[in-house]
Amino acid sequence: MGDLIENKNLVYVCNETDVETNGMLAIEDDQLRPIAVFNLAGVFYATSNICTHNIAILTDGTLEDSIIECPLHGGSFDIKTGEAASYPCEKPLKTYPVRVSDGKVYIDYDQISAESPEFECSVDKGVDNIGDRFLEGPQFPTITLSTGQAFQVNNNDETVLQSALRAGTAFPYDCSSGGCGNCLFKLEKGEVEDLFPEAPGISNYARKLGYRLACQSIPKVDCTIGVELDVKYTPPVVPQKHAARLKSLKVLTHDMYMITLYAESHVEFMPGQYALISLPNNNAFRAYSMSNISNSMGEWEFIIKRVEGGLVSNLIFELASKDTYNIKMDITVDGPYGNAYLQSNSKKNVLCIAGGAGLSPMISILRGASARPEFDDRQLLLYYGGRAERDLCVEDIVSEDSRLKGRVKVVSAVSESSTDVLNKISGEVRRGYIHEVVEKDLWEVLHEYEIYVCGPPKMVEAVQKTLVNKHKLPDKQIHFDAFY
Ligand SMILES: Cc1cc2nc3c(=O)[nH]c(=O)nc-3n(C[C@H](O)[C@H](O)[C@H](O)COP(=O)(O)OP(=O)(O)OC[C@H]3O[C@@H](n4cnc5c(N)ncnc54)[C@H](O)[C@@H]3O)c2cc1C
Ligand code: FES
Repeated sequence: MGDLIENKNLVYVCNETDVETNGMLAIEDDQLRPIAVFNLAGVFYATSNICTHNIAILTDGTLEDSIIECPLHGGSFDIKTGEAASYPCEKPLKTYPVRVSDGKVYIDYDQISAESPEFECSVDKGVDNIGDRFLEGPQFPTITLSTGQAFQVNNNDETVLQSALRAGTAFPYDCSSGGCGNCLFKLEKGEVEDLFPEAPGISNYARKLGYRLACQSIPKVDCTIGVELDVKYTPPVVPQKHAARLKSLKVLTHDMYMITLYAESHVEFMPGQYALISLPNNNAFRAYSMSNISNSMGEWEFIIKRVEGGLVSNLIFELASKDTYNIKMDITVDGPYGNAYLQSNSKKNVLCIAGGAGLSPMISILRGASARPEFDDRQLLLYYGGRAERDLCVEDIVSEDSRLKGRVKVVSAVSESSTDVLNKISGEVRRGYIHEVVEKDLWEVLHEYEIYVCGPPKMVEAVQKTLVNKHKLPDKQIHFDAFY
């Protein structure tokens, strides 16, 4: 203990017995940054307790051997070295030297106090696309970034994210639904209404530090915010609100249907993007991906899955079932949004992997590719996964579309049916999870494909782990949308 006392850099954090063997402990001390202490078979390690990808507390996740998995997006780190071990974590985690003496665990205080914050919000200096795009009158709040650039909110029910994208700002985001956490910003000044206080995309800890989700925050007054803009999020088509009405509904499976909405304006979006739909007399909006492509007929087509107990997916179905194909334009379609769209500059073949209603944007991407001459010599593959045969409808959709029929190769797989049942189904149907089937068929040639993935978060995560972690495909080659 003598030399520890002399070394003023060391700070006591806990007793050895406070951390179970192969367990971890969060150190909460107002004087220190959040620290995690680990006991691996009697050897102690310490790291920052905040994920470098997004603000989440790592000790709320799981520890296996020396790998800690973040509870928010499933990325991981090696706690011995701090190295990021899996997607989407990239930046290393800070590690701190540990000393154990007389049953007490100490870490190097000097290293802690000298560190910069783990997660800083600043504006990327390479991005200067905001300018002075104030859209309408001055009656709604103004959002100013820490650099001084500003954009204006256009409506009193518009989120920070919607306003930013309408102003052409390269604001990071993905789901617009509170699930991915990519639209995190720091509220430095002002006040916002939080539409979704239980949103899984942000931890309580991040909220405590003043962070918010831009897709769930409605500015109440002028605000100053910190956010790291990134040019890759510049909207390819600026989103707008359209009044629409139901034009048709077609039942696809026991729980999926295709609807077409009609709006009185030209429809423009990138194949694979989504829109936010809200219904009359209801403030809730949900993201739905288009299954068609841009058109001048005013048609927005969607494949929607009825979620048991789900608010909007059931309301849309009920509205459509009750002879509401009328002239009232009372559905709002706000779009387009989303970053997982067809990459027309890529020279690679196209591989689409979908689960559930994730089929919708994949059909759009395949329709987009088959309509463009530059894709004429490329393979178009669609792998679709369901639980059982009653979930399958891809063959019908493809064969009813003259552009897709004979052009797109479809492979369907079901995870819960026996081989006997599968032998009775027409078309190519395999048994297993869709990421396993893709891996089995294509593992040697995966690098030849631009890959698009869409479906429930668990399915998207399984595909991500297979392609990025296991097969080391660059994440630029893969375009994901998880249906949170
Ligand atoms: C990018 C994207 C694209 C999507 N595309 C499609 C598609 O093409 N087809 C399809 O069927 N589904 C799609 N979804 C899923 C869809 O948005 C809905 O989550 C789904 O239809 C269930 O909605 P619900 O209202 O019926 O269920 P609910 O259970 O009422 O809500 C489900 C989801 O809504 C969000 N939510 C819940 N409460 C709140 C709240 N208070 N405030 C804000 N948000 C809340 C949460 O994300 C929750 O998981 C997509 C999702 C995303 C993120
Ligand atoms: S949580 Fe806001 S964009 Fe996903």
